[in-house]
Amino acid sequence: MPRIATGATPSPNIWNNPATYELENAAVDPDGVLERAMSERRTWAGARVLDVGCGTGYHLPRFAADAAAVIGVEPHRGLAEQARRRCAGLANVEVRQGSAQALPVPDASVDVVHARWAYFFGPGCEPGLAELSRVVRRGGAAFVIDNDATRSTFGRWFRAAFPAYDPEAVQRFWTVRGWSRTPLDIRWRFERRADFEAVVRIEFRPEVAERVIAEHAGVEVDYAVNLWWRTF
Ligand SMILES: C[S@@+](CC[C@H](N)C(=O)[O-])C[C@H]1O[C@@H](n2cnc3c(N)ncnc32)[C@H](O)[C@@H]1O
Repeated sequence: MPRIATGATPSPNIWNNPATYELENAAVDPDGVLERAMSERRTWAGARVLDVGCGTGYHLPRFAADAAAVIGVEPHRGLAEQARRRCAGLANVEVRQGSAQALPVPDASVDVVHARWAYFFGPGCEPGLAELSRVVRRGGAAFVIDNDATRSTFGRWFRAAFPAYDPEAVQRFWTVRGWSRTPLDIRWRFERRADFEAVVRIEFRPEVAERVIAEHAGVEVDYAVNLWWRTF
């Protein structure tokens, strides 16, 4: 297997700093807003779940607690190995190296797909959407979690870091393809200020990161996200 499967979107935050990305995951959504919103729309209890771009597999155990089976797909071999190690004691979890554009799962074999800040960023992800249509069974659902750059403190930082990002184009992309948008307000809550600063430094280039750290006190950040979802 290659070090990184063909077609992967460079993800320097987690590829280069998986330990710091773990701190970020631990800080994301301490109130469980995302999980509640997804499970209200399509439960994964007893279902077959696919986590596309699962990284180090942070979310796999949570799905595995209720699902019949969970498959994590991750293009980066080292991260896929970390995900396997994380889930070594969970008999219903499997991690496969691969990409969203060529999912290593059979046709009509999955009930719920989760992709969190991974590959499905709007324009350009059409090959992955075609793969979702192939692998999700009738009655299934797919969830994509991504930033809502139009609002919140994090959204303002994101726009400063990526001025060419066009939130309206992203919204149009999903909407014309029949996906629904659920805007959600989550937050980052860190244990320590040093963790917040380390995470800001893997998310933004140095001048943006240092500005953010200088302007923002404390260990919490309000963070708007979009939950994009559709049924099949
Ligand atoms: C920001 S990380 C998020 C990881 C994980 N979803 C989480 O929340 O912890 C983005 C992940 O997407 C993966 N990725 C990049 N390109 C991909 C592709 N074409 N198909 C599937 N995953 C991809 C990266 O390797 C990385 O692990």
